[in-house]
Amino acid sequence: MNLNNTAVAAIKWEDNKLLLLDQRELPNTVNYRSYTQAPEVAKAIKNMCVRGAPAIGISAAYAVALSVQQYYSSTNENWLQQVNLEIQELNASRPTAVNLTWALKLMQQALEQIKDNPIAKITALAKKIHADDIVANQTIGELGANVIGESIGVLTHCNAGALATGGYGTALGVIRSSVQRGLKTIYAAETRPWLQGARLTVWELAQDNISSTLISDSSAAELMRTQAIDWIIVGADRIAANGDVANKIGTYSLAILAKFHQIKFMVAAPTSTIDWNLNTGSKIPIEHRTAQELLPACYTKNKLINAWNPVFDLTPANLITAIVTEKGVVFNPNSNNMKTLQC
Ligand code: MRU
Repeated sequence: MNLNNTAVAAIKWEDNKLLLLDQRELPNTVNYRSYTQAPEVAKAIKNMCVRGAPAIGISAAYAVALSVQQYYSSTNENWLQQVNLEIQELNASRPTAVNLTWALKLMQQALEQIKDNPIAKITALAKKIHADDIVANQTIGELGANVIGESIGVLTHCNAGALATGGYGTALGVIRSSVQRGLKTIYAAETRPWLQGARLTVWELAQDNISSTLISDSSAAELMRTQAIDWIIVGADRIAANGDVANKIGTYSLAILAKFHQIKFMVAAPTSTIDWNLNTGSKIPIEHRTAQELLPACYTKNKLINAWNPVFDLTPANLITAIVTEKGVVFNPNSNNMKTLQC
């Protein structure tokens, strides 16, 4: 089975337009929305039409290309300022995934250096960021599969697949590569409240003919107590320089449960997800989304009923068995051994 070309693509660039697969409508409807303006892409990131750390960064890079298309002309002296304003708006669209800032910084640095033909050059850079992410994920997949070896079963959380990246996926990249080597048992946690696991992960795997079993988040401990699994594999939104990991809410609980049950815990992410400016994870901004995303609709106007809705959590490095990146694998991550990924 060759799964290098996954059936699902979250992001496409066609005829100088950005196409985003609307993930709010999955799995019922496969609907690509077309974008020609950067502020509309910022909204699509905020409202989670596109989501997943690498996919957010790639979409923002293409949005900068749209902005240059819109404002650049030899007669508009202010085009760069106008583009920079839109870059700021994109940068504020979601706080936790550092891939967003990483991609926008690359685009901004390129804009400062480009002397001629900015539309073609900046579009080419966005396409390169997209293509590089797919290659990185394929490498992560192979390295992660080497680490796992012969696994009796794995559990993943959220969606860290083709839908969350340029393609192939990080955690699902490791799972895809492991399936090619014989992995048979894959559990996916539903991932409340937005249901990335239930609506996206099991659907995405099925598009590639990979069978998986959905569990409710609250079944995780019982799964670990009674069923044969030896690895939990997740993605990341931001990794601090000491290996602390911010990822989808529920990841931290799974890491604690894994430790208790002597199950190994893998984080799969490209190095664009590492924030070398943060020594520990305690300074990673954790996004809280609206109460409406959590509360049943009938409660939303009842002032007595509130909701607390952090959508990411922080897993300390000492609960992680291995961080797998395209530049290599760090076992038992800490400030010292994470440095091997810095070159
Ligand atoms: O809120 P989301 O769906 O954007 O959160 C996504 C995650 O937490 C993923 O695990 C993470 O971004 C890694 S995606 C390769």
